[in-house]
Amino acid sequence: MTKPRVFVTRTIAQEALDKIAQATEMEVWPEELPPSYEVLLEKSRDAEGLLTLLTDKVDATLINTAPKLKVISNLAVGCDNINITEATKSHIVVGYTPGVLTETTADLTFALLMAAARRVVEADKYTRKGWWQTWGPMILLGQDIHHATLGIVGLGRIGAEVAKRAKGFDMKVLYYDEMRRSEEEERLLGVEYVSELAKLFTGADFISVHVPLLPQTHHLIGATEFAMMKPTAIFINTSRGPVVDQKALYEALKSGQIFAAAIDVTEVEPISPDDPLLTLDNVIITPHIASASFTTRKNMALMAAENLLAGLSGEMPPYCANPKALRG
Ligand code: DGY
Repeated sequence: MTKPRVFVTRTIAQEALDKIAQATEMEVWPEELPPSYEVLLEKSRDAEGLLTLLTDKVDATLINTAPKLKVISNLAVGCDNINITEATKSHIVVGYTPGVLTETTADLTFALLMAAARRVVEADKYTRKGWWQTWGPMILLGQDIHHATLGIVGLGRIGAEVAKRAKGFDMKVLYYDEMRRSEEEERLLGVEYVSELAKLFTGADFISVHVPLLPQTHHLIGATEFAMMKPTAIFINTSRGPVVDQKALYEALKSGQIFAAAIDVTEVEPISPDDPLLTLDNVIITPHIASASFTTRKNMALMAAENLLAGLSGEMPPYCANPKALRG
């Protein structure tokens, strides 16, 4: 019996590749940079399965020119790179990797929050540049984290883990979400709901964003929201870049409207080396690494392999973003 053809768009953990190779005729894109859209189109034409990353655009054209495609397994929890509506219409299941990266992402969120508040990156640069001449009572002062108020935009899995970490620092945690949690969950997490985004932005010392990128969350945060923040406040984003109007963030940081920001995602990735944000000392920018621990990336790859193989066998992937693709 011939094995199904699959295209894996980058080298991922070997354990996952071994599993896929056993059951399929697998091709792995060997380069460090993603395949171009044209290459992805061509590889998809004959494939029954794709294992994609968030850098691979899987749009309606691709889906409609891949007649054999049964499953797209995305190595990410966010699937904004895939046209899920179109995949569902074509009965192609989309796998994703929720849960497995939640805590690792929350860890980096907290690392960024702390680094921005205490100016860790600036302080390291200060030392390396040879500017450290004495212990200075007014040098590199930052903001306290303990007992401050954290505002979480989107209290899903990752937002909730960030809230837990904040409790260890005796922070007060407010959250805004379209879906309010039950009173019991709020009590267990030690969080307080606010009914309007504006209340979160005016009341918090730190704002951390944890919403998926959807048409309704595009530029959810812009000049209006930054204008509401305290001049001592710090803004963190480890969700998706386009959720934030990056020009407005730049203006808020440059004018001192807010104290600092730390972001793991940018509107365009990678950020252009000419982007004005990179000229500012009060912003930390990491290259979309929130889930990048050895263990988590391996677990994500294994989960993506499992989703892929289930989809190829006509079964529901254990973590499926569009169960309707099979149900009807
Ligand atoms: C995701 O999974 O969506 C992250 O952005 C990458 O881990």
